[in-house]
Amino acid sequence: MQQTVQRGRFDLSDDCLSFDPCAHVALVVQFDGAVDFLCLLSRGKVEMETASHLRFRPLCCHRSHTLRAQTKYLEVGVDAHDVAGEKLDIEECIEGRTSIRVFKPDPVEDSIVDEALRMANLAPSAGNLQARDFVVVRNAHTKKLLMEAAYGQDFVWTAPVVIVICANLERIRHYGDRGRNLYCLQDAAAAIENMLLYLFSRGLGAVWVGAFDERKTTEVLGLPDHARPVAIVPIGHPAEKAFRRRRLPMEHIVHRERW
Ligand SMILES: Cc1cc2nc3c(=O)[nH]c(=O)nc-3n(C[C@H](O)[C@H](O)[C@H](O)COP(=O)(O)O)c2cc1C
Repeated sequence: MQQTVQRGRFDLSDDCLSFDPCAHVALVVQFDGAVDFLCLLSRGKVEMETASHLRFRPLCCHRSHTLRAQTKYLEVGVDAHDVAGEKLDIEECIEGRTSIRVFKPDPVEDSIVDEALRMANLAPSAGNLQARDFVVVRNAHTKKLLMEAAYGQDFVWTAPVVIVICANLERIRHYGDRGRNLYCLQDAAAAIENMLLYLFSRGLGAVWVGAFDERKTTEVLGLPDHARPVAIVPIGHPAEKAFRRRRLPMEHIVHRERW
């Protein structure tokens, strides 16, 4: 699982703790050459656990320990399946989720897909009308056609299961133009994010694909006129390392009181 990316002497002074607060990096701290503890530097916190028991739960912070010891820096990523069967909390899911586009051929169980769909539909929706529908695709030929509709994005085909999320323009009709042009898309978007977070929490990878030809997708899936495809979400067991993409600094995007 781990890959050594750096070695060196380390002590837990503040200087040494200056790392990207979004980075999830683990260090194995060695006392007299033996691996004694595994510290997870996560979200600016030091989390410590015995090496045999890797978890992301915040445990005690052993700063008082003089950890002037030889260390290895290990990339551990934030893959949910590294978490030894423990449930992740919501912050861990939000921070840990990244788009995954390379999948193992291993099948994804129906029960996980069904639960992902249930979680998706627990998202808020305008007037609780739940103006969203889901098309679950496992058939290789259909996935290939969807890949073509998605301008050749091959992970749409290689993922064991693909879910196409549609806005339902009929179910949202009560809200008129605003419902058709906005609410049903928001209903779908909220559902997609819930789904992505749930899948991550179960160790699965997924990516939100928005670049596709709507007409072709509609044809491939036989969607009725009142269903507008909003996203294609390929899902599978990750075969690539989670890679955290940088976000804009908050001061660039947050406006207080007025823009
Ligand atoms: C509306 C929308 C459309 C997207 N369309 C695509 C797409 O067509 N293909 C793709 O590979 N990723 C697509 N993405 C995924 C983004 O590239 C990805 O979320 C972004 O780079 C941030 O990376 P992260 O998801 O790993 O945090 C889309 C995401 C959103 C929200």
